[in-house]
Amino acid sequence: MIPFSRPHIDQEVIDEVVATLRSGWITTGPRTKAFEERLVRYCGCKAVVAVSSWTMGMQVFLHWWGIGPGDEVIVPAYTYCATANVIVRAGATPVMVDINPTDFNVSVDAIARAITGRTKAVIAVDVAGMPCNYPAIHNVVAAAGARRLFRPASAQQESLGRIVVIGDAAHSLGATVAEVRTGALCDMTCFSFHAVKNLTTAEGGALCFNLPAAFDHEAIYREFCALVLHGQDVDAMAKSQRRTWRYDVKEPGFKCNMTDLHAALGLVELGRYQGNLDRRRDIFAAYDAAFQAEGWALLPPSVSGTRVSSCHVYQLRVRGATEEQRDAIIQAIYDQGVAVNVHFIPLPMLTAYRKRDYTISDYPESWEKYHNEISLPVYCDLTDDQVQTVVEAVKRAVREILGEGCQGPS
Ligand SMILES: Cc1ncc(COP(=O)(O)O)c(C=O)c1O
Repeated sequence: MIPFSRPHIDQEVIDEVVATLRSGWITTGPRTKAFEERLVRYCGCKAVVAVSSWTMGMQVFLHWWGIGPGDEVIVPAYTYCATANVIVRAGATPVMVDINPTDFNVSVDAIARAITGRTKAVIAVDVAGMPCNYPAIHNVVAAAGARRLFRPASAQQESLGRIVVIGDAAHSLGATVAEVRTGALCDMTCFSFHAVKNLTTAEGGALCFNLPAAFDHEAIYREFCALVLHGQDVDAMAKSQRRTWRYDVKEPGFKCNMTDLHAALGLVELGRYQGNLDRRRDIFAAYDAAFQAEGWALLPPSVSGTRVSSCHVYQLRVRGATEEQRDAIIQAIYDQGVAVNVHFIPLPMLTAYRKRDYTISDYPESWEKYHNEISLPVYCDLTDDQVQTVVEAVKRAVREILGEGCQGPS
């Protein structure tokens, strides 16, 4: 079976993890700090705090930003559940909006229409690695009308004076808009380093701060190091280095610090990340070349104007296929030993959100993209031969389900 995803674990990674185990320091310590510093340099942002997952990092951020009951956060309907779950967990309301006809990302016009006096944040999602149009989103939240409506409810919100723009960059490390990398494209960006992501630390994530000059990023870094560790103002490493035991907790915090064992993977992966991106781009190009002559194939964009994707997964769509036919095509692909996926089931179709009164018919573009989408594997260790096997399996499955000569309706 060709797996849908596979982490790139070679001797270099194993050696670094073993060196960490042998070092005597396995929780947050020098490797986590080095990983954070490398990410600051790689992304070009102002501060990075490494955490145990995107989800936990985002929960800490929403808490710190003062988002809670009565607040609204705008999110696309077309995303992974984590993007909205963290808002529900914070006690706030996810306000779902539809995506663009031209790609899988949130519609900026829909964001503008959804802003109310209760809107505190927008979480834009770089689906499959394609970065959102952040300059346009910034223009929307900075517009005089949106600023007039804005009602700050915490010191942070007061300092910013507008809706905070958050990037869900779970898929998009290394993606760029006008050559600026994700992490430096909006006020705060959160990465996921889960096992299937472009860069993995097994589980993990990072909060990247890029707030305006009025914010003290060194102070934010210190505050978040405490917040992700119960609120403790001195971590275990600092305690052992300073030969002191006393600490204080100013506010009860969370517990989601990254460990040095996880950071060891991240350091190796980040050091050679360009090679990873190049391989992903080659695989995208091979899929484009293989499918572009097929009348039924709708290809995903990997470059759009100044936006360049990190090519996380290949979101192929089968023109004219119903949802049932798409599911049958996926089964026929599986039957040939190739694992594929669907990114994503729109949130209004999940029970948790259906019972909160979200309805997929309110999000026609999300349905349009979802019902005939099949995500193909893209990862470093996928060989050229395997790419061809995937291509053949997909073409055969489409022919089998939609019939020979299928072009889909024009
Ligand atoms: C778009 C998106 N956001 C957030 C997450 C959550 O990441 P994590 O598993 O690190 O919490 C994922 C994970 O798959 C994701 O795909």
